[in-house]
Amino acid sequence: MPISLSFKINGIDWSEVAEIFRQAPLGNREPDKLRRACENSYLVCFAFDKKMLVGMGRALSDGEYQAAIYDLVVLPAYQSKGIGRQIMEAIQRRLPVKTIILYAVPGKELFYKNLGYFKMHTGMARRNEALEEFRLEGYIE
Ligand SMILES: CC(C)(COP(=O)(O)OP(=O)(O)OC[C@H]1O[C@@H](n2cnc3c(N)ncnc32)[C@H](O)[C@@H]1OP(=O)(O)O)[C@@H](O)C(=O)NCCC(=O)NCCS
Repeated sequence: MPISLSFKINGIDWSEVAEIFRQAPLGNREPDKLRRACENSYLVCFAFDKKMLVGMGRALSDGEYQAAIYDLVVLPAYQSKGIGRQIMEAIQRRLPVKTIILYAVPGKELFYKNLGYFKMHTGMARRNEALEEFRLEGYIE
């Protein structure tokens, strides 16, 4: 499927992005918060089928040493066609750092393993909100 990638955030309809998150599913997001999160990211990659937005991914980075990838998401009708991989590879190519970290939604670990990611013994996270939700979603024991 011929998909085009764009790294520009102007002209994006953030309600459309929120709708992709809802359908994917990757949670309910407020369009304005998504816009601010993307504006504050190091880079954002959008995937289009002609003019229709079908997926995205974004990275935080200091531009020198470290980066983290978040919010990789593809519309269900477009999943398993190689678009997620294309977005990941495009983001990775543009990150001028040695190490990229991420955490996978439970069940998606193999997708990232196929892209060269491995589990780390000492990865740690702190939640400012209740841990119970994180536990129920399968991120922690
Ligand atoms: C996860 C997601 C982004 C993957 O995008 P995608 O376009 O469906 O994946 P691709 O078609 O590019 O898959 C690339 C490769 O990973 C494999 N793969 C895809 N999903 C996988 C999964 N859940 N488990 C194992 N392998 C998977 C594919 O078979 C493919 O392998 P290949 O390149 O050897 O053929 C997409 O399925 C999605 O949006 N899911 C819902 C939201 C979500 O969970 N996002 C991840 C947040 S961490």
